[in-house]
Amino acid sequence: METVLSGIRSTGNLHIGNYFGALKNFVKMQDENRCFFFIADYHSLTTHPTPDDLHGKVKQVLAEYLACGIDPEVATVYLQSDLTEIPELYLLLNMIAYIGELERTTSFKDKVRMQPDNVNAGLLTYPVLMAADIIIHKATKVPVGKDQEQNLEMTRKFARRFNTMYKTNYFPEPTAYNFDEALVKIPGLDGTGKMGKSEGNAIYLVDEPKVIRKKVMKAVSDIGPTQENQEMSEPVKNLFTLMNVISEADTFKFFIEKYNNCTIRYGDMKKQLAEDIINFNAPIRERIIEIMADDAYLGKVAKEGAEKARESARKTINDVREIIGFKQL
Ligand code: TRP
Repeated sequence: METVLSGIRSTGNLHIGNYFGALKNFVKMQDENRCFFFIADYHSLTTHPTPDDLHGKVKQVLAEYLACGIDPEVATVYLQSDLTEIPELYLLLNMIAYIGELERTTSFKDKVRMQPDNVNAGLLTYPVLMAADIIIHKATKVPVGKDQEQNLEMTRKFARRFNTMYKTNYFPEPTAYNFDEALVKIPGLDGTGKMGKSEGNAIYLVDEPKVIRKKVMKAVSDIGPTQENQEMSEPVKNLFTLMNVISEADTFKFFIEKYNNCTIRYGDMKKQLAEDIINFNAPIRERIIEIMADDAYLGKVAKEGAEKARESARKTINDVREIIGFKQL
């Protein structure tokens, strides 16, 4: 059994790309491993120093994860800001992290470009805080996307350096969690790239039916195939990719055939796709609304999660203090 840890951004609602790209697998993963899921609310301050409605966003994100099937009875679900042990380990790790290596990370260089007026130290040490998040529970597996691979590499580096520096093998070196099936990349509705919040092309799990219909009907397509079995353009391929994960196999087949014999009407396809997305979202959306209205439940989940997480984190901090040589006088 592995110790799996996943950090969740606290900005932005979940969209169907998040669901099929990762969340669906988290739900399976929690039964087979010792899992920690936490909301990285400290990290959000590196880009949003005065976030509007921080509390509300954290609550929404937590409700959405629970609605998708993350089970707080099985996995440990908590907020980063509820554990003081994380900043404590972060401080200790900062002493063995070098400014040069932090400055060279691509994510730091990207952020400097994106927010030149707010190059704060938190931005520079973002990978150190992320390493603390991970090794505080001695996690061995971290499900991360491509964009987080370098941060995970840094985590391994700090864990290894700690071990070497203090002549111990205390921290394991975490690696990326590989799902059994290849991850599906869900495209956006604008004909290019993947679905994302910042791309503005996403369908959110909380979107109302009429919003979904509007977004799907507006999705980019093309002028239609002019010869049999014509290769698909990027936007049309994207629509079919979405249909493939969302709709029934027969529906997908039906429209593929229509495409191949040039009788397809994209309007019909989009109508069908929109209804299938609405049906898929409906139970999750209902759960989100239900959970959001239940402050007592959310409070209980956060409190019990923090207690479980703290127990594991406290043990690590006590061990680390001893390894480094802090003792009571
Ligand atoms: N950096 C991650 C992201 O942007 C969020 C994150 C913070 C995280 N701490 C983590 C992910 C620890 C995995 C493990 O998505």
